[in-house]
Amino acid sequence: MSAFDPVSSFGPETAAHYVGFVRGDEEAAAAFLAQLARGGPALEFAIGTGRIALVLAAQGIQVDGIELSAAMIEGLRARPGGDRIGVTVGDMSRVTTGERYGLVYLVFNTLFNLLTAEDQIRCFENAARHLNADGHFVVETALPHAWIAPGRADYVHAEAVDLDTVVLDVARYDPVTQLLEENHLRLTTKGITMTPIVCRLITPGEMDLMARIAGLRLVERFANWQRAPFDLHSQAHVSVYGWAL
Ligand SMILES: C[S@@+](CC[C@H](N)C(=O)[O-])C[C@H]1O[C@@H](n2cnc3c(N)ncnc32)[C@H](O)[C@@H]1O
Repeated sequence: MSAFDPVSSFGPETAAHYVGFVRGDEEAAAAFLAQLARGGPALEFAIGTGRIALVLAAQGIQVDGIELSAAMIEGLRARPGGDRIGVTVGDMSRVTTGERYGLVYLVFNTLFNLLTAEDQIRCFENAARHLNADGHFVVETALPHAWIAPGRADYVHAEAVDLDTVVLDVARYDPVTQLLEENHLRLTTKGITMTPIVCRLITPGEMDLMARIAGLRLVERFANWQRAPFDLHSQAHVSVYGWAL
């Protein structure tokens, strides 16, 4: 997808969608994260409109965020409690809040929004830069094969088929670059809108190596926020990294 700008994936329309959006894992995620925060402040990379951060903050945890999209930050600010979250504007692989935390976390596949291995490694390094001496970095993503079956290069998925609206998820995967180029097409009687996004899919093993480059190591890994075992049938993972010994 030439000339793709990652910020364009999270403009005003997407932000408006996210403000009311729940995935259903918010309470479980916040409970998992609160346990690791142990009452201290936490930092969310790519905080978005606060889907997780606001639930965590409601448990008494002070949450800061780093976020690239002005529209998403505006969406966060408009929500109850959103004004109490400190947000640093910028790229989570590069900017710093200038503070250290017992917990830094990055959820909802957003590590994939960094489109080169270098940037993904830099993201681990930036997380490490924000961790205190016994801090943890938590990453949650899908597994690449859950999105693209081995041997498949593309797919079209009908997300909605109604009388006057059809929503298609159209994607193509390049196993060499590991880039999944995806576009959501909304076809209505009034016209067509497109929401493109590109993701660089990486496996948990690659993440573990990136963590090691950043001076971190895997502490534990689960299939979800409820701590289900990570195994052959897992479709996603929640990985907890701490300082390498
Ligand atoms: C899928 S949303 C997730 C938002 C929030 N973490 C959640 O769980 O609802 C991805 C978010 O990551 C942000 N984002 C993408 N790339 C980023 C980057 N390099 N640095 C900071 N934020 C980024 C987007 O603007 C968007 O708000």
